[in-house]
Amino acid sequence: MSPPDPKIIVALDFDSAKAARQLMVQLDASLCRVKVGKELFTNAGPAFVEELLHNGFGVFLDLKFHDIPNTVANACKAAADLGVWMMNVHALGGQKMMSAAVEAIQSSTHKPLLIAVTILTSMSASDIHEIGLSGTPADNVATLAKLANDAGLDGVVCSPMEVQGLRTLLGTNFQLITPGVRPTGSTKDDQARTMTPVDAIRVGANYLVIGRPITQADNPLQALRLINTEIAKYCA
Ligand code: C5P
Repeated sequence: MSPPDPKIIVALDFDSAKAARQLMVQLDASLCRVKVGKELFTNAGPAFVEELLHNGFGVFLDLKFHDIPNTVANACKAAADLGVWMMNVHALGGQKMMSAAVEAIQSSTHKPLLIAVTILTSMSASDIHEIGLSGTPADNVATLAKLANDAGLDGVVCSPMEVQGLRTLLGTNFQLITPGVRPTGSTKDDQARTMTPVDAIRVGANYLVIGRPITQADNPLQALRLINTEIAKYCA
C-alpha cells in the first residue's frame, strides 16, 4: 500500500518551539504535513524541524532561499540532509541558481521536493514595476514558473487564482502549492482573494497551505479532518 499523501500543509506560524509543539501534539501526521517558515525557523532552528520529523510529520521548509548559486546549493543540501519533505527557493534568483539547487540535492537519500516562489502575492502591479520588472504580475508569475520548470524544479507556490493558468502552461506533473485557502464559512483574515479547499483542488492545486483556519481553531484536529473530508468527498 502506498503511504498517505495528505493534501493539507498546516502553516506553523508561531514564534517559538513551545507554541508550535502545543499545536503539533494536537495534529495527526497521517492527515497533514506542516510548514516551517522564517519566523519559526529563526526562533526554533533545525532542532525543532528534527522534532517534527521525529514525530512523523512531513516538513515543508519555507525559507525561500535567494543568493548566489553556490550558497543556495549548499543551503539546499543542508535542508535535504535534515530530511525535509519539501523546500523552496526564490525564482528571482534565476535559472543558474535554481539549477544549482536541483543539482545539489540529486544524491540525497530522501530527495525533497524542490519548489520555487515566483512573484510574492503581497506585491501589486506598481510594486513590481517599482523594482524594474515590466508586464503584469501574472505575466511575471508565468515567466518565473516556466523558468523553474526549465531548471528542473518540481513546482511553484502560487495563488489559487493562478493555478489554472499554470496548470495549462506547465502540465500535470508540475506541483502547484497554494496558500490563500479558506474552508467554506471561515474568516478570510488578511487574505484578499481566497478559494475553498475543494475549489483549489478542482482548478488543479496539488497541495494547500492552510494556517489560521486550523491553527486558531478551537479543535485543530477536527478542523483538519473537516477539510480532508470535504476534499475526499470531492475526489470520490
Ligand atoms: O493563516 P493562513 O492560512 O493565511 O496562512 C497562510 C500561510 O501561507 C502563511 O504561512 C503565509 O505566510 C503563507 N503564504 C501566503 N501567501 C503567499 C505565500 C505564502 O499566505 N503568497
